[in-house]
Amino acid sequence: MSKQNLQEIDTNEYPHLNRGLEGIVAFSTSKSSIDGQKGELIYSGYNIDTLAENATFEEVCFLLWNDRLPDKSELNHLKERLIAERNVPEPVLNYIKNTNKEAEPMAVLRTATSMLADFPPEKSNDQISDFQNQAIALTAQMPIIVAAFDRARNGKSIVPPLDHGSTAFNFLYMLNGDEPGEQAEKVMDLCLILHAEHGMNASTFTARTICSTESDIYSAIAGAIGALKGPLHGGANTAVMNMLLNLERKGKDADPVQFTLDKLEKKEKIMGFGHRVYKTFDPRAFHLRKMSKALSEETGYQTLNKWSESILKTMKDEKNIDPNVDFFSATVYYSIGIKPDLYTCIFSMSRVSGWTAHFLEQAANNRLIRPRALYTGEKNLEWVPVDQR
Ligand code: CMC
Repeated sequence: MSKQNLQEIDTNEYPHLNRGLEGIVAFSTSKSSIDGQKGELIYSGYNIDTLAENATFEEVCFLLWNDRLPDKSELNHLKERLIAERNVPEPVLNYIKNTNKEAEPMAVLRTATSMLADFPPEKSNDQISDFQNQAIALTAQMPIIVAAFDRARNGKSIVPPLDHGSTAFNFLYMLNGDEPGEQAEKVMDLCLILHAEHGMNASTFTARTICSTESDIYSAIAGAIGALKGPLHGGANTAVMNMLLNLERKGKDADPVQFTLDKLEKKEKIMGFGHRVYKTFDPRAFHLRKMSKALSEETGYQTLNKWSESILKTMKDEKNIDPNVDFFSATVYYSIGIKPDLYTCIFSMSRVSGWTAHFLEQAANNRLIRPRALYTGEKNLEWVPVDQR
């Protein structure tokens, strides 16, 4: 029998072949809702605009893990616990110090997160509360891993974590060795809020799939980091910055409009644009665009911001495609002095709150995730001994 192509296959057995699972609803969730037509994003009841204006990242973590906002004492308790978990075991730090300095930060984050499984918080008799404690520990530890690797690869000493301050404040302090100003902390905190949760994206789906086999939370988060790393998902923010920096290297010849037109002509993608669900402006991009403009005026990166706006206009005019969360987050991070290859790590440091919230939700009401595949190969071939092939 010859190799089958899709047209020849009896699709009665597999009536719903859907490449990329587009439009498939595989879970119910109370964690977030996206309306791709309206450009609306809600985390556990609260519109992203409301959270961006009022919340802190720690409040968003509590919200995602508990489906409600904390009262003052609950919030203080969570903050204390996140501070208490700000330590990475010596063997993990040794790995971070000794690994290849040229390694991709996302690869180091994935490996170090996986190693944390060997050093979990003290276990109880209750699996769900163990998962909750592990979610807090992971959220506290991932920024430490990212900052420590960046210091180590640059031959600098690792800065010990602070016993006070927000996640955003401590991360910038450990990265730079200096306490950040109020504005830098605010920018980082807002970025953490905006990236925390986003429905059934590829990395969250990965985390839930791993959870569904009754595996552990560290495996799920390491898997999710691996999924986020790709440029079609979280890796796009680094790709956006590299694109702008490549343009900058052209000096006087830099022409963002022509650059965009050339890429489109060649049927290449412009990173930071397009989305499977949003068919309009990504609501997170509104906040990041505003921030990028304000920061560029303060830091002198107006040209990068101007080019971003030119690319945006060209994409809208030529393809009617809007930017996603990754487009303006690139220039925002750049403006506060963060290296481009760390951007997806920052995405992970935030999204771990959403991943773990989904892990807890899946674990509380689990069913093995096990879809089917449409077989396009041959069947019942005759066996040919190896020396006759
Ligand atoms: N640049 C140019 N054309 C694009 C782009 C883009 N960034 N995105 C989509 N298109 C075009 C695509 O070429 C296709 O055109 P045509 O119908 O003429 O062939 C059409 O739009 C549909 O695109 P698709 O790739 O089939 O859509 P999808 O739903 O499979 O892909 C996507 C969504 C995010 C993978 C895609 O838009 C993309 O590759 N964007 C660039 C990478 C990126 O920014 N990723 C971050 C996603 S948001 C953050 C996150 O969740 O991590």
